[in-house]
Amino acid sequence: MSVDIKAVERVEELHRQKAAVKLGGGVKRQDEQRARGKMTAWERIDYFFDSGTFVEIGGFTELRTPHFGLLEKALPGDGVVTGFGKVGGRLVYVSSQDFTVLGGSVGEMHGKKIAYAMKLAVQNGAPFVCLNDSGGARIQEGIGSLCAYGDVFFANTQASGVIPQISLIMGPCAGGAVYSPGITDFVVMVEGTSNMFITGPQVIKSVTNEDVTMEELGGADVHMSRSGVATKVCRSDQEALDWVKQLLSYLPSNNLDVAPASRFSLASSEASEDMLSIVPSNGNKPYDIYEVISAVVDAGSFVELQENYARNIVIGFARIAGRSVGIVANAPGELAGCLDVDASVKAARFVRFCDAFNTPLVTLVDVPGFLPGVEQEYGGIIRHGAKLLYAYSEAVVPKLTVVLRKAYGGAYICMCSKHLGADVVLAWPGAEIAVMGPEGAVNIVFRKEIQEADSPEEKRRECIDHYTEKFANPRIAASLGYVDDIIDPRETRSQLVKHLESLMRKRVDTPKRRHGNIPL
Ligand code: HXC
Repeated sequence: MSVDIKAVERVEELHRQKAAVKLGGGVKRQDEQRARGKMTAWERIDYFFDSGTFVEIGGFTELRTPHFGLLEKALPGDGVVTGFGKVGGRLVYVSSQDFTVLGGSVGEMHGKKIAYAMKLAVQNGAPFVCLNDSGGARIQEGIGSLCAYGDVFFANTQASGVIPQISLIMGPCAGGAVYSPGITDFVVMVEGTSNMFITGPQVIKSVTNEDVTMEELGGADVHMSRSGVATKVCRSDQEALDWVKQLLSYLPSNNLDVAPASRFSLASSEASEDMLSIVPSNGNKPYDIYEVISAVVDAGSFVELQENYARNIVIGFARIAGRSVGIVANAPGELAGCLDVDASVKAARFVRFCDAFNTPLVTLVDVPGFLPGVEQEYGGIIRHGAKLLYAYSEAVVPKLTVVLRKAYGGAYICMCSKHLGADVVLAWPGAEIAVMGPEGAVNIVFRKEIQEADSPEEKRRECIDHYTEKFANPRIAASLGYVDDIIDPRETRSQLVKHLESLMRKRVDTPKRRHGNIPL
């Protein structure tokens, strides 16, 4: 058969055009991007997806705004690469903004591409990962650009609770652009190169006269430790992409799926002798909650989220006997493990993610109560604490609770007690389940007796011992069915393995409603 020269030339031209599209804003701008320690939009995609699996969609899309000479600057792709590929063999959709093209700014077609990729992700039940590196709304496109953002926010919201959505912030993310990551389930930032803020330092200076640098205002550390926006901070683009790949391995592809189970070693099922020494009997002594978590989950499987925010509560994914679970644990080493505004919000959002995506919840309780104080009350601990109560009550996934030590007052109820629908509540023998701790309780209940006693201190001690004996233990709760069993701490892991297995087909019918009204 003779070769059709014209067809060959056309195909060669096509390949030249595709290579040009991949160059984005050109070699010089790509080099500048690398010099800042950032990968290019395509390098990120190549690194993220299993080799050879990525398929681009809309590579020839171009902007259509004639103003400000924009058409002369237009480049195919319009500053964002969208498509799908495989991560660990599973389908994932992506958008990757190209800062070398008009600063990765979002115009009409740019936004349409992202929203369309999201629509495909929802239709095909696959996670959506958004790589952000953008100067925000493309100023020259005016309302077209705002409309593009609106499309993306709408798509984010429609996808919420249907597919996992993960944002990586790998450059600037300014103005309204922050609200797309703000809606998504996880926000991963890169130290030193990423920023997120609604208004930049210059606007702030002109409006409030505050002096602040970009890093102080919206750098990765700020969003990890102060605002709670960041789920994870990584040191480089590569580390961030690796972390997201690991995160995806714990998640189902969509709300009708369960996360893939992985193999686990039988050795890691054995009873842990350490359990008798990690948690001190003296309730005033702190300890390392991570040691308890490590002892109950499959070896090395715990992945923490928001690790430097509200450190009085620990959240993250882990595996128990190969199954993905969400861990929520009070951390007595920080604020004695009290619940406060930040901890309540942090845990509540995580509980809701787990519930939306069929991930059983394992709650480890050692909580002396809600943090007292004017600041907390003024900060809205009533409505924020209510979020955690609401989230646990609403969750229909398997809910397993272990009371390690203290479980007092409203915080006891809040930490996935039987009353909020826990499927199983196990307590260690030293668990103290009561309205409040012995010291506080006797000062109220026995105040008169103590005051009138010949030796008030001796009387107080006697009352404390009496209260501790009578109330600060797990027996009363167990006798009423609020604790299913009091267990040997060394058997915690094996008990969780068995209970989890029994709950994997749990079904709950909830009354029909559009949605509840969680106290936002
Ligand atoms: C159009 C933009 C742009 C934008 C950057 N560029 N941002 N073009 N619209 N929003 C272009 C620049 O003109 C430049 O083009 C190229 O991208 C690279 O930008 P530089 O400024 O040279 O880069 P750098 O010094 O690294 O600074 C990056 C930056 C800065 C911090 C992001 O560009 C910046 O402040 N941009 C504006 C940020 C902003 O205010 N965005 C709008 C937010 S309001 P040339 O051709 O000169 O190289 C918003 C509202 C959305 O987003 C509301 C939705 C609800």
